[in-house]
Amino acid sequence: MAKISISPIITLVLILNVVSYSEAALGAHYYDQTCPQAESIIYQTICNASIYDPKVPARLLRMFFHDCFIRGCDASLLLDSTPENKAEKDGPPNISVRSFYVIENAKAKLEKACPRTVSCADIIAIAARDVVALSQGPWWHVLKGRTDGRVSKANETIDLPSPFSNTTTLIQSFAKRGLTVKDLVALSGGHTLGFSHCSSFSARLHNISDPSINSKFAINLKKKCPIHNKDRNAGEFLDSTSARFDNDYYKRITMGKGVFGSDQAMYGDTRTKPIVDSFAKDEKLFFSEFAASMVKLGNVGVKEDGEIRVKCSIVN
Ligand code: HEM
Ligand SMILES: *[C@@H]1O[C@H](CO)[C@@H](O)[C@H](O)[C@H]1NC(C)=O
Ligand SMILES: *[C@@H]1O[C@H](CO)[C@@H](O)[C@H](O)[C@H]1NC(C)=O
Ligand SMILES: *[C@@H]1O[C@H](CO)[C@@H](O)[C@H](O)[C@H]1NC(C)=O
Ligand SMILES: *[C@@H]1O[C@H](CO)[C@@H](O)[C@H](O)[C@H]1NC(C)=O
Ligand SMILES: *[C@@H]1O[C@H](CO)[C@@H](O)[C@H](O)[C@H]1NC(C)=O
Repeated sequence: MAKISISPIITLVLILNVVSYSEAALGAHYYDQTCPQAESIIYQTICNASIYDPKVPARLLRMFFHDCFIRGCDASLLLDSTPENKAEKDGPPNISVRSFYVIENAKAKLEKACPRTVSCADIIAIAARDVVALSQGPWWHVLKGRTDGRVSKANETIDLPSPFSNTTTLIQSFAKRGLTVKDLVALSGGHTLGFSHCSSFSARLHNISDPSINSKFAINLKKKCPIHNKDRNAGEFLDSTSARFDNDYYKRITMGKGVFGSDQAMYGDTRTKPIVDSFAKDEKLFFSEFAASMVKLGNVGVKEDGEIRVKCSIVN
């Protein structure tokens, strides 16, 4: 008779996985009784802010990713530093995560309508869905019921994947949070919106031995980012339709026109290339997979023992 034995190491890995992304009881109807107008208040705030500043949608989408990847989706990214503690928002990629005021405005309105009810973590999750829909992308039901964390540490942002990471590192980083290879490729489609500073990609332009980059595209990028560039704001849009949520990002990767080494690397790896191809060919498929992966991203490290912050930038 065959004997099945599970090694202690595998058992440990299984237990750790369960701990690091425990399934929380989030629900689509979480605020139906306590704050039925929550989503429309958030939507109006996001809409208004996006009209005043067209950079808002990309920034809020990225905010959700960064929040969820560090300590789970608990709005730890929104906390301000204090004299005793340097917070996540002042950690290394701080140059580009912005527009916190939009979430704070939504929170202020929610505190008037239904005090101490809607968490900042849920506001970010709803905002990320709204900005995608506003940019002509898909819409999905956001699951709610997250609570806000009380801890935020600048040094933990080291755990965010880097634009210079290879595909193996990206896959591992997503797997640590319960996300699959498909989730990695679908969520990277967030780069259909927004902008990047030169520092996130210029190193690859001066690497003559990088064959993955389209040579004409590289020349264009070099013009935007000269070697002795002094303009801290210089950079490039992440795809040619950077205000519209579409599958252009994948089409560009198939042509060697991914801005980040990490994005382009997905086309040089057999685990991810077929998925990139399928999204480049079929925008509907990309939309439905993106929506499903955003729901999964929203489940990462959800806390039920946190608090409902009154102001998103400080703990109660
Ligand atoms: C797979 C790993 C990822 C890496 C390595 C990565 C890296 C980056 C970098 C370096 C930037 C530009 C920062 C700058 O120089 O201004 C950026 C921008 C952006 N990222 Fe990602 N990212 C990843 C995944 C994601 C995901 C999962 C989303 C959302 C679903 C996302 C959404 C965005 C958006 C919307 C922008 C543009 C922000 C703006 O215009 O202000 N990224 N990302
Ligand atoms: C709309 O956005 C502008 C710019 O951020 C802000 O000054 C104004 O108060 C907002 N209005 C509403 C109704 O949220
Ligand atoms: C932003 O990150 C850089 C490292 O990339 C760090 O040197 C700097 O202190 C950070 N900014 C703030 C305001 O903490
Ligand atoms: C961040 O710093 C704290 C001490 O302030 C330390 O305990 C923790 O291990 C550090 N985390 C990382 C990811 O380096
Ligand atoms: C990917 O990057 C990691 C970290 O930099 C490195 O240790 C690893 O060897 C790389 N893997 C491949 C296949 O290049
Ligand atoms: C240059 O590109 C080659 C080939 O893709 C890669 O192996 C190498 O790590 C790159 N070097 C730098 C400094 O990015």
